Amino acid sequence: MINEKIQDVLNAQINKEFYSAYLYLAMSAYFDEIGLEGFSNWTKVQAREEVDHGMILFDFIIERNGKVQLSQIDVPENISGSPLEIFEKIYEHEKYVTDSINCVASMSDDECDLASRNFIDWYIAEQVEEERNAYEIILKLKMFGDDKATLYHIDKDLQERTYKSHSYK
Ligand code: FEO
Repeated sequence: MINEKIQDVLNAQINKEFYSAYLYLAMSAYFDEIGLEGFSNWTKVQAREEVDHGMILFDFIIERNGKVQLSQIDVPENISGSPLEIFEKIYEHEKYVTDSINCVASMSDDECDLASRNFIDWYIAEQVEEERNAYEIILKLKMFGDDKATLYHIDKDLQERTYKSHSYK
């Protein structure tokens, strides 16, 4: 049976992951509106990965004979600005998620819930990738600038991203 405090933070984490999906979807719609289909694709693929992150937590709580408690998902606000500004928001958001995951790991240790501690390792590794993915795009946008010709080429690159379902087992 899952530790109750850990169950609470994992339920809160489900909400954060689904909020992340909403955030990326809102960004995808914005990029589509301003004609950047590759950026729109990249963020839409990321939204699907965030749904996977939420579902893996959902399945784990059930697997541990715990209780899933869903909560309201906030609507993302202020989705506007240049691609660089949006990716800086993404990077800040992923660092926030990393902090949240680290707290779950630390609490799992404190509560001696080692199954949860072992489970959350997958998310710790995933967050390294999530932060790096956003940071690489920020570096490109800073290195090559954000004039229309450069954005056109970066947009084409980001069109290549495809969705692969995530699983922690
Ligand atoms: Fe599921 Fe992007 O953190």
